[in-house]
Amino acid sequence: MAKSIVFLSGSLREGSFNTRLARIAARSLPEGYDAVFFDLKGIPPYNADEDGDNSPADVVELRRLIHDAAGVFWATPEYNYAVPGIVKNVIDWISRPIFPQNCLVGKPMNAAVATISTTNGARALSELKRMWNTSGGFSVPLPDCVITMAGTKFSEADGVDELDATSAKMVALAVACLVRVCETNAPETLAANWQAYVKALSS
Ligand SMILES: Cc1cc2nc3c(=O)[nH]c(=O)nc-3n(C[C@H](O)[C@H](O)[C@H](O)COP(=O)(O)O)c2cc1C
Repeated sequence: MAKSIVFLSGSLREGSFNTRLARIAARSLPEGYDAVFFDLKGIPPYNADEDGDNSPADVVELRRLIHDAAGVFWATPEYNYAVPGIVKNVIDWISRPIFPQNCLVGKPMNAAVATISTTNGARALSELKRMWNTSGGFSVPLPDCVITMAGTKFSEADGVDELDATSAKMVALAVACLVRVCETNAPETLAANWQAYVKALSS
């Protein structure tokens, strides 16, 4: 059975560079991997009163997709030198319930940022990876994949999104590095560490 990688875009806007980036990244998955896209538009602001058995339907669905996936790939903008609010909000939802474990535990993740800036973007990338790791996931440390001056790098041919050759190579490398990690036993090892941690806390 094919493994899946969940692709998430941190931008809700129509025509988003990052949504296009997620679609381009998914095309470089090797045989044996399926891309699963999930639109974050329907995820409400985190509210602990609504978390638990009656969590919002989109939250339940996203948690299930991530739980069943081999890994996750984010394409996100940087907003004000940080991740957009929707990205933080989604991580708040999917990082719960913490016990016995959330759907991120041991889950490999890699990410890319598309920005119109010439110099920024890396802060959102490292912030996202730090949050993912803090929640029990496992982000691929390198390579940093920031597509700067996005307006000059994306194009479209016959309705298919394209990137310039150098950026396309970087994005394909980011996906390949994620898949390589998915093929190791790192996810099981990290999940075992999490379970040991939970056991230590409860004994
Ligand atoms: C509220 C806001 C804050 C932004 N802050 C940053 C920033 O800190 N760094 C950056 O590189 N670009 C920043 N930008 C510009 C984004 O790179 C640009 O809007 C980009 O196209 C957003 O990605 P999208 O096309 O996927 O929506 C900001 C844009 C908005 C709307």
